[in-house]
Amino acid sequence: MPNAQQDQAERRHLVAGNWKMNGTAALLRNMISNLLDESDLPANTDVLLLPPFPYLTLAESLIQDQPLLLGAQNLSAHEQGAHTGEVSAAMLAEVGCEYVLVGHSERRELHGEDDDLVAEKFVVAQRAGLRPILCMGESAKQRKNGLTEVIVKRQLQAVLDRAGVAALGNAVLAYEPLWAIGTGKTASPEQAQEVHAYIRQTIAAVDARIAGQVQILYGGSVKADNAADLFAQTDIDGGLIGGASLQVEQFLGICRAG
Ligand code: 13P
Repeated sequence: MPNAQQDQAERRHLVAGNWKMNGTAALLRNMISNLLDESDLPANTDVLLLPPFPYLTLAESLIQDQPLLLGAQNLSAHEQGAHTGEVSAAMLAEVGCEYVLVGHSERRELHGEDDDLVAEKFVVAQRAGLRPILCMGESAKQRKNGLTEVIVKRQLQAVLDRAGVAALGNAVLAYEPLWAIGTGKTASPEQAQEVHAYIRQTIAAVDARIAGQVQILYGGSVKADNAADLFAQTDIDGGLIGGASLQVEQFLGICRAG
């Protein structure tokens, strides 16, 4: 039987900065040089930057072999071809990405991505050697109606059905309640922990070893002053940071809390 406490101790933490459609090349240079100069990062924490597509090559050249991870915010479900404006998984891998977000709520809500498409993108990302970060979360109305677990389970199940549970061994999960994104209304550490534990238990029902290993990040109004309490929860393995990842001191503070 896997030992839950041992798994928790062994899981590294990940702090990921999702810039969304924000930022500039100058901010990227400043952010990366500050992150690389930072000496107070916890040894168990990795830091990942997810800038917009046009900045990936610059980020890769600034990071080189130094300990900072790079990823993208989206990818096409198609491998190549006549898909104007889309970016393939292979292109992302070629410019140095190791991670890619799939199923961010802004993609689901504003760009019509359903569970099937998200699952397809998850598979396509892994096929190109990328590690997908699968985002899940409920709206305020769904939470009010007691549907949080139903929604999160549906979003997770779509990927389990398509990719199989073993695929989570090379993926990251992120719980991002929609009502907490960009609102300043962070989920309390207890609220977040409850859903993270539910996600881990749902996976454990299929494969306890994978459930113990997979990193589950929390996202939604994480700031330097609330990160430590969130990241201290048993099933929270770091954060997916939006607004605060665009401010050097805020993001450094969150990384130090990692
Ligand atoms: P905020 O940190 O701005 O709430 O955004 C969270 C998010 O959507 C990260 O992917």
